[in-house]
Amino acid sequence: MTDPHRPLKDAFGRFATGVSLVGCVGADGSPVMITVNSFVSVSLSPPLVLWCLERKASSFPAFIGADAYAVTVLHAGQRTQSERFARYRAAPLKPEEYERWTTGAPILKDRLAAFDCRIVNRHQAGDHVILVAEVVKFEARAGKPLLYFASRYSDGPETDR
Ligand SMILES: Cc1cc2nc3c(=O)[nH]c(=O)nc-3n(C[C@H](O)[C@H](O)[C@H](O)COP(=O)(O)O)c2cc1C
Repeated sequence: MTDPHRPLKDAFGRFATGVSLVGCVGADGSPVMITVNSFVSVSLSPPLVLWCLERKASSFPAFIGADAYAVTVLHAGQRTQSERFARYRAAPLKPEEYERWTTGAPILKDRLAAFDCRIVNRHQAGDHVILVAEVVKFEARAGKPLLYFASRYSDGPETDR
């Protein structure tokens, strides 16, 4: 069956992005993670970010019930982590793979950058919800980003600082 949204998806996919994992604490206290390419920076003062959560994602109830999330920006060597958390019933995070900062949301130890954030607004937007949050702690490392373009991954350029 042909996907009626294919032409729009193809056009949206011409916009190249990085890839992040967004994590929160689930209702039972366990870490929940999802692969996203909708993460964007919004404001410097106050420091705000957002990403868009699909309503039908299995992690939707966890993120809607959470008051915080953390964003792990993936480096070029992390395609398998992107694929892992884009899958239904992803292999659960092992304790040695992640850490928690101020909010308690999970952050992958292996990363290019990370943002620990408290949710300040939820906006209904069609089949997604926009989750706006204030950054309470962040970190950036040297390296190459994982890029996503036209449904394919590639390596980005090395940072210069
Ligand atoms: C590169 C990439 C980017 C994605 N970006 C988003 C996104 O921004 N928001 C979202 O809700 N889902 C996004 N997804 C899809 C989710 O990762 C995926 O639907 C979800 O993890 C699968 O879980 P489920 O089948 O249990 O719902 C993306 C997937 C990939 C591979």
